[in-house]
Amino acid sequence: MITCFGESHGYCIGVVIDGCPAGLPLSQNDLQLELDRRVPHSPEIALSRIENDEAEILSGIFNNFTTGAPICALVRNQDARSADYSCIKDTPRPGHADYPARIKYGSFNDYRGGGRLSGRITIAFVMVGAVAKKLLRLCNIKVLGYTQAIGDIAVEQEPSPEEIEARTYKSAVRCPDVKTSDLMERAIVNARERKDSLGGVVECLALNVPTGVGEPVFDSLDADLAKLLFNIPAVKGVEFGAGFNAALWTGSQNNDPYVLSQGKIVTVTNNAGGILGGISSGMPIRVRVAFKPTPSIARKQKTVDLITKEECSLQITGRHDPCIAPKAVPVVESAVATVLCDHLLRAHIIPKVLGGKDGNGRTLRT
Ligand SMILES: Cc1cc2nc3c(=O)[nH]c(=O)nc-3n(C[C@H](O)[C@H](O)[C@H](O)COP(=O)(O)O)c2cc1C
Repeated sequence: MITCFGESHGYCIGVVIDGCPAGLPLSQNDLQLELDRRVPHSPEIALSRIENDEAEILSGIFNNFTTGAPICALVRNQDARSADYSCIKDTPRPGHADYPARIKYGSFNDYRGGGRLSGRITIAFVMVGAVAKKLLRLCNIKVLGYTQAIGDIAVEQEPSPEEIEARTYKSAVRCPDVKTSDLMERAIVNARERKDSLGGVVECLALNVPTGVGEPVFDSLDADLAKLLFNIPAVKGVEFGAGFNAALWTGSQNNDPYVLSQGKIVTVTNNAGGILGGISSGMPIRVRVAFKPTPSIARKQKTVDLITKEECSLQITGRHDPCIAPKAVPVVESAVATVLCDHLLRAHIIPKVLGGKDGNGRTLRT
């Protein structure tokens, strides 16, 4: 069970992870490494708040190992400028959650910076993902994301897992193809100069997932992945393998023929994206996630004054990312890793108490 807490301009963003097996070596540094990947080190790409986002683990760790008790971790907010948001209190931003949240919570919601419905809540996703990725490494499973498209600029040739692993986080836009990365960066700068924003697509691969993971009918692997991915703010589409294109093809084009490769059953193509019937097929899981353009743009927009009930215009100040996709790459990886971990625990592929030795050299039970 996972829950998160905190608001964009509140005290902190935090998470509680209940159900992590005991005996996993875990430190604040493990969370920090993942959090550091969330913010591209380019002022052109990441315009929003400049914060160090330092992870603190409050519970669930003893002698540098997880204890099996709930893990609570948080990041304190440091760089909130709430004054930037006074203008949106009664004049909701088009494309953001201000208006429906105000109606749902009867104006009691913390609207500053989007409150709980801010992109900053993805800090919680990334802290959970850091723990999930460590657990997956025990099963040799890798989760690799990258920016596949920004606006109408997309990578032409699918990068190999090795290329994604080696180059994604060296690119400010998190695209492993150097030429495309430059074009994407320029497109983002152009959009910002036009006081506008761009959407994008993040693709994610999960490698070495064993065949047979997933709990159809109602906890199918693709359904659970899609659910968590759709909980990331600004996600507007999720597709596996050939995705929406499969609807345009015939069966003979879409089916992935089985062959034997070094005694293993594999498929020639992977249009299914590694999942059939809600169960992992043993092929790489391939999922693409579409992000809408950042709603908060500097351009003048139409809105309604909720007090006077009159139409008016709104000019948003403050710092906003001109494109969400680059920051979302480790968030998508984290969501995928979290769901996979959950299913591997349910299938007892990851045990409730991990083997090996603890910090005192004591052998742990498996
Ligand atoms: C990593 C990340 C960063 C985001 N940064 C911003 C931002 O700087 N400004 C903004 O208006 N929206 C930003 N968003 C998007 C909003 O949080 C989101 O659009 C809003 O909550 C409305 O939800 P919806 O788009 O899912 O309907 C970000 C989203 C993510 C995932």
